[in-house]
Amino acid sequence: MSSGRITTSTLVLLGSALCAALLGCARGSRWAGFDVLQQPAPPPPQRIGGTELSKEDYRSLVFWGEKWFRSETFGGERATTDVAGLFDGELEVPCDAPLDAAGPLGEPPKPVPSVPAPVCRRKVSVLPFLIRALDRLDGTLGNLFSGNGNGANGELGNGYTSDLVLVFPKGTTLAGLPVPERLHTGLDVDAGSPWPIGVVPVAAAASEASLPFLVEPAALGAGPAAPGKVRLGITCALCHYTLDIDKDGHADLRSSEWGKETPGSLWQARNSWGVGNQDVHFGWLFALTRNPLLGFTVLSGPVGKNSPGDAVEWVRWVKENYRRSPEAVRREVIRGMLVQPRGLADDTPNALHDANQLPLLFTNQNWPYNFDGSFIDASDRNNGVWTGAIDFTGLVSLASDRSGGLQASLYWEQPSVYSLLTAEEYADILVDQSPLVIHDPSSRRALKDNILGYSDGIPGVLDPDNVVVMKNDLGALPERVLNHPQNQAKKRIRTPADYGGTAELRGSVMVLLGTRVITSRKAAQAAGLTEWQKRYPGLNRDDFQSDAVSLMLDWLTPPPNRSALLANAKSRIARGYEIFKAAGCAGCHAGPFFTDNRMSRLYARRGPEIGIAPPSTAGFRALGRGTGPAIGTAPYRSLANRSLQLYVAPPYEPETGLPVQTGNALRGLFGSRAVGYKTLTLRYLWGSAPYLHDGGVAVALRPDAAPAGDDLGALLSRPVSDKMYGMATLLAYREAAQSGGPWPNAALSLQALLLECERRRVVVQNAAALMPVPIGSADNPLGAPAKTSAESLGVQGIGHDFYIDDEPGGERITDLIAFLLSLDDAPSELP
Ligand code: HEC
Ligand code: HEC
Repeated sequence: MSSGRITTSTLVLLGSALCAALLGCARGSRWAGFDVLQQPAPPPPQRIGGTELSKEDYRSLVFWGEKWFRSETFGGERATTDVAGLFDGELEVPCDAPLDAAGPLGEPPKPVPSVPAPVCRRKVSVLPFLIRALDRLDGTLGNLFSGNGNGANGELGNGYTSDLVLVFPKGTTLAGLPVPERLHTGLDVDAGSPWPIGVVPVAAAASEASLPFLVEPAALGAGPAAPGKVRLGITCALCHYTLDIDKDGHADLRSSEWGKETPGSLWQARNSWGVGNQDVHFGWLFALTRNPLLGFTVLSGPVGKNSPGDAVEWVRWVKENYRRSPEAVRREVIRGMLVQPRGLADDTPNALHDANQLPLLFTNQNWPYNFDGSFIDASDRNNGVWTGAIDFTGLVSLASDRSGGLQASLYWEQPSVYSLLTAEEYADILVDQSPLVIHDPSSRRALKDNILGYSDGIPGVLDPDNVVVMKNDLGALPERVLNHPQNQAKKRIRTPADYGGTAELRGSVMVLLGTRVITSRKAAQAAGLTEWQKRYPGLNRDDFQSDAVSLMLDWLTPPPNRSALLANAKSRIARGYEIFKAAGCAGCHAGPFFTDNRMSRLYARRGPEIGIAPPSTAGFRALGRGTGPAIGTAPYRSLANRSLQLYVAPPYEPETGLPVQTGNALRGLFGSRAVGYKTLTLRYLWGSAPYLHDGGVAVALRPDAAPAGDDLGALLSRPVSDKMYGMATLLAYREAAQSGGPWPNAALSLQALLLECERRRVVVQNAAALMPVPIGSADNPLGAPAKTSAESLGVQGIGHDFYIDDEPGGERITDLIAFLLSLDDAPSELP
């Protein structure tokens, strides 16, 4: 260090040097001596559990897994259609505005003469606007269901996009809150597909034809379509796929579908898998449902405040008012959703804002899973999504008289919002504004009983034939549900012994909400599961489909970096690798997958000064254990799942990802697991800015500055005045300009991650009140501020204080960044 000042980072680097010299360093020892620039990464194992697959079978299972990742809902379309009302939100549109004034390619509508106040507004569903936006993607109206995608008008006219834009008449509002005229949804659409990636139509039974909230394609005014009605479901691909591989705001592929390659593209269809949709706006997607209350504990929360106490107060307000003032509650829930930072996803059910960036799904030897490492087993991880994130009604298992009760006994932990909600009360809020209950108020009790598991033995609204139950030590399932006559009659009650392998040790993590999906009948038939089982008797029938999905994710490799920027910086890569190793990065980001598979604890000793109440001393003892230095990145995500990690998730062996003991409340108290964040892989950094789990570290060139160019040294030397710092600045710009960009620049953002002076600028901007809060002329009973900070939404960009001693554009940092940008599918093959 040239300054001679001893900083934390000096100590850390010294620490890792000492550890390497004296102890051989416990971290990353599995890959000691592995040279990433000389040796290719080992391929994923071609097996499921202990069962080796033939080459052909492996290949076909990868293919099947992809199909299910893209299309399987397990019946979740009932949650998204009957309970949520996806794309069926009620907008208030000025009475005299034409509903679609936009040109065939979605040009801005012609200005309507301004209407004197008070404005007359009529209620209109979102669906026609969505359909119009999809239909005009190829520049031809009226062919949505009969070959959209045959036009030839550039990216927008070709029938595909990486950012579907809905065009609304000027003056449109949603629950009284202003709606932009051009709403960038961030949804991706494949050429030739009538629906966005990850949105799937599921045919409804003929007997349901009278339900008005089902979607009837032939009646949508977008041209001929097959007769009948459908429900819309969502799948894994919605969040994890994108056509924009290099993340510059333009689609690089026409289609993400297997076999539908794009002539002339630098990438293959499979490169769009698992790379994360970094501009999808979940807040808007959820706010535009008919019943945003379904997500009130997940994607919404108080605006401008972000402590667990604020969340509890907010849930209390929703509970006391949803019947008395349904419109006011709907508006506040929507407001809490609209502030969600674009491109990030908040999947934690805690009524707090703790958005994460969408992780990269290169899962091969990249355990534990999720940023907070809450899962070690791939099937348990997939199951958590299918039972609780695709079907939000499954979260009823968290209520105070189900597993939430256990949280209450951990009195030293943060209070849970579920302490205020019994299962019955929670279910009532979830269904109150649902399309099904609005249509037929007498169906309320039956829908609640379905969600509570009283009518069919399965909590949530997934198809019960696709789900089994198992005892969960947290109390997710009451006796009457677990041992429901239908569960007994249909042999749906499982024990860990039914799964074998490590199941006994994983225990409750296998059924976090009491339920576990099994291979759907549809998938079993299509795959010929019985034949598979004859060939491979060791395969588990229940997990077969989920295992195929995991197999596909393990098979994925990051997209190659084909940029001229990297090619021109080729001579720097080897030097950059040396700096990477010398700075201690390789201790944690070890081996071919750039992870030691360990957790870094969040804090060293005491809680930092943040808006979140630090857990009391007892909790901190547990926090203090674990290996390596404290990571100190945004705490919200990790703290949200703290109890799960400490008291339920089993300790595991980093080398294999296998559990070594059962998860155990007592051990949790004495700290058998480090609570914090897992070491992230570094492959595809070239396309995955912003950085850190909260996506807080981002720098872009100003839209009016000269373009980035192909000279890495020159780019990194650009003056401060050319740059926009912090995700907050970029997102605020996008909302104000109603534009897709600017996008974080990978090289500049890496420089801000690794140079202390640059990072400080990022953190300051994230803490400033820059993000617009929709208020308009609507009532504001909870006093939301006009602007809020990214920090109040859980996006800080702090921590991971491992810095390089250099200046922007200096030789060392430029070499290191050249190395980091070269980490793609084959780092050992130089560009
Ligand atoms: C609503 C968006 C969304 C959907 C739908 C979704 N995911 Fe995710 N996924 C996320 C987010 C956000 C995370 C990061 C969660 C965290 O760490 O807190 C994540 C994490 C993951 C991870 C862990 C990656 C890592 O680095 O450890 C895997 C694997 C994964 N998802 C697979 C799936 C599968 C399989 C499905 C479908 C069953 C699915 N996801 C559906 C948003 C989504
Ligand atoms: C003590 C272990 C440790 C050391 C040492 C370490 N990292 Fe990390 N790194 C992590 C963890 C943990 C994360 C994830 C933190 C989070 O998201 O909150 C991470 C995240 C990152 C990311 C962001 C990845 C993404 O997709 O957002 C980059 C880039 C990175 N590290 C590079 C480096 C470099 C370069 C060095 C050396 C100067 C280094 N790391 C040193 C543990 C470490």
